[in-house]
Amino acid sequence: MKKYLGVILAATVTLTACGEKSEGEKTSKKESAIHTEQISKQKHQIKKENGVTKIDNLILVNKKVPISKSYNKGEDAVARTQLNKMIEDGRKHGLNILYRSGFRSYAEQTQLYNSYVQRDGKAAADKYSAAPGTSEHQTGLAFDVGTNPSNADFKEAFGQTREGKWLADNAYKYGFILRYPKGKEKITGYQYEPWHFRYVGKKDAKKIHAQKLTLEEYLDYGYKK
Ligand code: DAL
Ligand code: ZN
Repeated sequence: MKKYLGVILAATVTLTACGEKSEGEKTSKKESAIHTEQISKQKHQIKKENGVTKIDNLILVNKKVPISKSYNKGEDAVARTQLNKMIEDGRKHGLNILYRSGFRSYAEQTQLYNSYVQRDGKAAADKYSAAPGTSEHQTGLAFDVGTNPSNADFKEAFGQTREGKWLADNAYKYGFILRYPKGKEKITGYQYEPWHFRYVGKKDAKKIHAQKLTLEEYLDYGYKK
């Protein structure tokens, strides 16, 4: 019996998979709603793997989508190579882009976040620093950069430096996105950070840049619409 059920099911799936509808075939409203739901669910593939959430194979970490305490892979080698290329090409354009920080373990993020909470209070710290287990720096795919003189480093003013402007326009060519853009604070959960770049790979970075999206919007996940 099981065998026959399998055959019937397979046949149904095959029939459903065929695009062409026969003459007179009517799709009820309910059926069409189910179909639409299936399509929208298929749009993005969501999976949890080794303590991180991957949407269409891109790691997403934010205030609503945490990273496990034990996720500790260190700096991503490909991302670092691309960062170095970007810095080097910047140099060819007469720019002085400097690496400031990258991978942070859960423990390091805890120390950093706690020090900011002590200094500025929790409400203020939460606008610019991620609570332990919610920082993209723990993925090894995020980097903060600055320049010399360093007076604009880690400030909005970095976006107005020649380095900050060039990075905002060109980072996607190296597979990076400006992760916390101006005007998208409600979506990302953080204030504008013109110094923080996240590696997503060239294909996705190009689309995200062209459409002026945040990672949350692009993946349609992890934020309130
Ligand atoms: N500054 C970013 C949000 C972090 O702490 O991960
Ligand atoms: Zn950062």
